[in-house]
Amino acid sequence: MHSTFMRFLQLSKSKIFILTILIAVGIGIGGIIFLYKQLPSPQHPGFEIYAQDEFRKSNYPYLDKSLPIDQRVDDLLNRMTTDEKIGQMALVEKNSIHDPLDVSRYGLGGVMSGFGGKPEPNTPQGWLDMVNGFESSARYSRLGIPILYGVDTNHGHSNVPGATIFPHFIGLGATSDPDLVRRTAQATSEEMLATNIYWSFSPNLDVVSDIRWGRTYETFGSDPNTVAELGKAYVEGLSVLSTAKHYLGNGSMEWGSSKNINFAIDQGVTRLDEDTLISTHLPPFKAAIEGGAKSVMAGLNTWEDKKMAANSYLLTDVLKKELNFQGFVVSDWYGVYEISISKYKSLVTAVNAGVDMIMLPFDYKSFMYYMEKAVQSGDISEERLNDATRRILLVKFELGLFDRDVSNNPDLSVLGSQANRDIAREAVRKSLVLLKNTGETLPLSKSVDRIVVAGSAADNIGRQSGAWTVEWQGIDGNWIPGTTILAGIKAAVSDSTDIEYNEAGNFSASGKRADIGIVVVGEKPYAEGWGDLAHPALSKDDLEVIEKTKARSEKLVVIIVSGRPLDIKGLHNDWNAVVAAWLPGSEGQGVADVLFGDYPFTGKLPVTWEL
Ligand code: GLC
Repeated sequence: MHSTFMRFLQLSKSKIFILTILIAVGIGIGGIIFLYKQLPSPQHPGFEIYAQDEFRKSNYPYLDKSLPIDQRVDDLLNRMTTDEKIGQMALVEKNSIHDPLDVSRYGLGGVMSGFGGKPEPNTPQGWLDMVNGFESSARYSRLGIPILYGVDTNHGHSNVPGATIFPHFIGLGATSDPDLVRRTAQATSEEMLATNIYWSFSPNLDVVSDIRWGRTYETFGSDPNTVAELGKAYVEGLSVLSTAKHYLGNGSMEWGSSKNINFAIDQGVTRLDEDTLISTHLPPFKAAIEGGAKSVMAGLNTWEDKKMAANSYLLTDVLKKELNFQGFVVSDWYGVYEISISKYKSLVTAVNAGVDMIMLPFDYKSFMYYMEKAVQSGDISEERLNDATRRILLVKFELGLFDRDVSNNPDLSVLGSQANRDIAREAVRKSLVLLKNTGETLPLSKSVDRIVVAGSAADNIGRQSGAWTVEWQGIDGNWIPGTTILAGIKAAVSDSTDIEYNEAGNFSASGKRADIGIVVVGEKPYAEGWGDLAHPALSKDDLEVIEKTKARSEKLVVIIVSGRPLDIKGLHNDWNAVVAAWLPGSEGQGVADVLFGDYPFTGKLPVTWEL
């Protein structure tokens, strides 16, 4: 028996001794790192707060909306203390703020909802009240600088139950329709503004290369020109602050390179030479900046052994100097603190590399402490601090945050309005890609005798919406308003048509065979690295439902609801038609609009799909 242990024993005594020492040292270092990370971080006590709106009595020039913005920024910047400038560089997740007045006590520049960071009750009014609460807390500070409240809106204001859920970007990519994307963005910002939210962490400008990546569906696809054109349109349509993300090369990570032990490719290493990185991934950001993007989010990926938030060449030399980007760079999630085991060193590295606002997103008191030390020591220069603060203030003034009526009473009924749902329905229609259509099965007649419908995604708004819907990982089932694909089919057919639905495909063997069997199958919701998958394919259960339905139908139509291509090679030979519906969102009736010929198939594959 030559087990590893036997082989170990055969080593010489000196080798065993050395090996033992190495193992002990390794354990020791690991233990020290673990204990170091458990140490409580030093905390900054914060600074004085004032009576609410006290600052308005000053009549300082920065409050005068008749003055040029640059003059207002200069006046405000010259009045700010070092700590007040540092506070503007902090972006904090709202659940980490235990005392709302800390917004003023630390002069926080940004507050956000990590996806699913919802109010209680989780209603449009609840969102408006929550955001107004943080905004009013900012008015107890000496200078009354308003916060920027940020949320993810990659397919509508989808945190909020009742909002219109648009197709995810992969479906918009299939439309290749910049005007439609512009209107989608406009409708999204209209619903955001109804909750007084002025900052969207969209558009995603990643150019996806490996569809095994769990974020494929968040992208407009794998063609840099399409991503650039549609990304620019989205920025132009958004009437709030947009965020071009994730800078740079976040769609070209290498499978198996993730720095997150739970993931395979998300947060991984972008292994591209500089020319390929720039030619593939920079054009969408260049276009977005031309379209007016005023924030750029640094990705969680690594390039040439550097975390993106530490890359001064890409963040400062390329983005800020070559592209003349005048807005601010925001880091992604906890990414800055992944640069080094030392939080102090991480912050110094990221800020000096060009990060202007740090998505902490948790501990703002230690952030203030370390940053104050870094500026006092000169590790972060006053010039760099002023540059970052100026960029942030400029955007806030341009958004009108200093001048808006904080006692406004927005019309919440725009959330999920019929007009916005109609735009979403149009987007669904235009996103559908006809993968196969033998014997001109499609379009279907509305007056066939009998149709049977089956499948895991036929009557499930959660499946057709995908993740980033109320919850980060989505909500499987029918929990939000909308129209399922099944409901759309039922509404489309004539009264004389017999339509039977059975999710599992259990149709009576003795009953009349259907003229048409429609099976709607695909992926369960997933977000980010939790969707990294070595072989995206239909599940065994879905394939069984397809077989059972085919056995009871003259012709079979399979509709795939997924965030990316699924492997159906060799499986679809006796499926008469196959439609890629991507993740259509709340307006599932858009599928029936095309299925029954009211509109033609116009969608084009945004990524390669091998059949
Ligand atoms: C996530 C994502 C980013 C998102 C941010 C805030 O980690 O990478 O796309 O905008 O956190 O939710």
